[in-house]
Amino acid sequence: MKRRVIIEPFRIKAVEPIRMTTREERVGLIGAADYNLFALKSDDVLIDLLTDSGTSAMSAAQQAALLSGDESYAGSPSFFRFEAAVKHLMPFKHVLPTHQGRAAEAILFSLLGGAGRMVPSNTHFDTTRGNIEATGAEAHDLVIAEGTDPQSLHPFKGNMDLERLERFLETHGARVPCVMLTVTNNAGGGQPVSLANIRGVSELARRFGRPFIIDGCRFAENAFFIKEREAGQGDRAVSNIVRDMFSCADGMTMSAKKDAFANIGGWLALNDDELAQAARSRLILTEGFPTYGGLAGRDLEAIAQGLKEIVDEDYLRYRLRTSEYIGEGLLSLGVPIIRPTGGHAVFVDARGLLPHIPPLQYPGQALAVALYVEGGIRSCEIGTVMFGRRPDGTESPAPMDLVRLAIPRRVYTQSHADYLIEVFADVVAGKQALRGFVIDWQPSAMRHFTAKFRPL
Ligand SMILES: Cc1ncc(COP(=O)(O)O)c(C=O)c1O
Repeated sequence: MKRRVIIEPFRIKAVEPIRMTTREERVGLIGAADYNLFALKSDDVLIDLLTDSGTSAMSAAQQAALLSGDESYAGSPSFFRFEAAVKHLMPFKHVLPTHQGRAAEAILFSLLGGAGRMVPSNTHFDTTRGNIEATGAEAHDLVIAEGTDPQSLHPFKGNMDLERLERFLETHGARVPCVMLTVTNNAGGGQPVSLANIRGVSELARRFGRPFIIDGCRFAENAFFIKEREAGQGDRAVSNIVRDMFSCADGMTMSAKKDAFANIGGWLALNDDELAQAARSRLILTEGFPTYGGLAGRDLEAIAQGLKEIVDEDYLRYRLRTSEYIGEGLLSLGVPIIRPTGGHAVFVDARGLLPHIPPLQYPGQALAVALYVEGGIRSCEIGTVMFGRRPDGTESPAPMDLVRLAIPRRVYTQSHADYLIEVFADVVAGKQALRGFVIDWQPSAMRHFTAKFRPL
């Protein structure tokens, strides 16, 4: 059968105008922002690919659900709808709402972390790592070797290296408060973890008597990759695959700003009664009463409805096709990217595209600025600007100089993707003229957010 284009599986009822700018205006705007894309006003951006977090378009049903939000301090029906929607997909005993994912991590590691402890994962997201390290514990990344090879076409590049995890648990077991797994693995643009691997991690965690916690931010994208790529899963409903994934675990952390189509929110879910009780006490100190956890009743309603919509297979097919389509377009222009494309983002290898710009002149920043100037596209450097500064203030090149194009959910259409590819074509045609940057000012930590750059 002839394969037809995979269309956006929705109609658009409310629109948000994009303010058009000229190339000349953008040259001025990025200069006034000291060539840091975080310093731009979002009104001055045509296509904003800075993050997929909290940037989803809500559906008509979600907007309607907002009005059912009950803002009672305790025992709101909105909480019970939220709790039921979570438990329908993730059968955990206790569900604690939080204002976003990192709040769930902070509560969990205030209880499980501490000096001398070690927490393995495939790859910890930076807030997870930060929350572990803030307690004095260590965060360890044990992703399979293919997961750090940009050209490996392994179908599950987010998998945990089970042999390394087993050795890790044999050597350090007593110091491990829990085993974590991030699905999809954000590093590399959302590379999936197979169901077999999730079961393997679960089996090892159980054998060593350690709780297994899933960071489930992009669980639905992960489940659809399992359906498409894992033997024996193709005929199963995504919601059943999701339930299987979480049935292997003892708890989860979640940012509802990703795969719950919400603009804010998250949760911590746990099976252990004692740990959940301690987490609730902590939640009251830092987030609010356990039936709202730092959220408004209307946010809980948006999440409850979003969880019903996110497992829609037409949506997920379109979602994963979007990053694949952009990836194919870039590859056809000779732009090197991390392959295969993952769920929520496309990562461009700026060092490979701009070999004449040395890493310490920030080729990722040069590409990100060029995409803005040429087409008003905002992306995010993930390379030497972000990771190149050592604690003593000296610099060294990051392992890779990448530019991340993160794709908001249900926000942009195929013509936006085509436009993005056209802008890349122009940047590629003029790439020899691109120059690197120096940093004129930077803070002592997290410099990428506020550094001021000067073109060379
Ligand atoms: C894998 C992963 N874990 C945790 C978080 C933290 O979530 P939040 O931004 O809601 O605090 C993120 C956010 O980007 C993420 O991608």
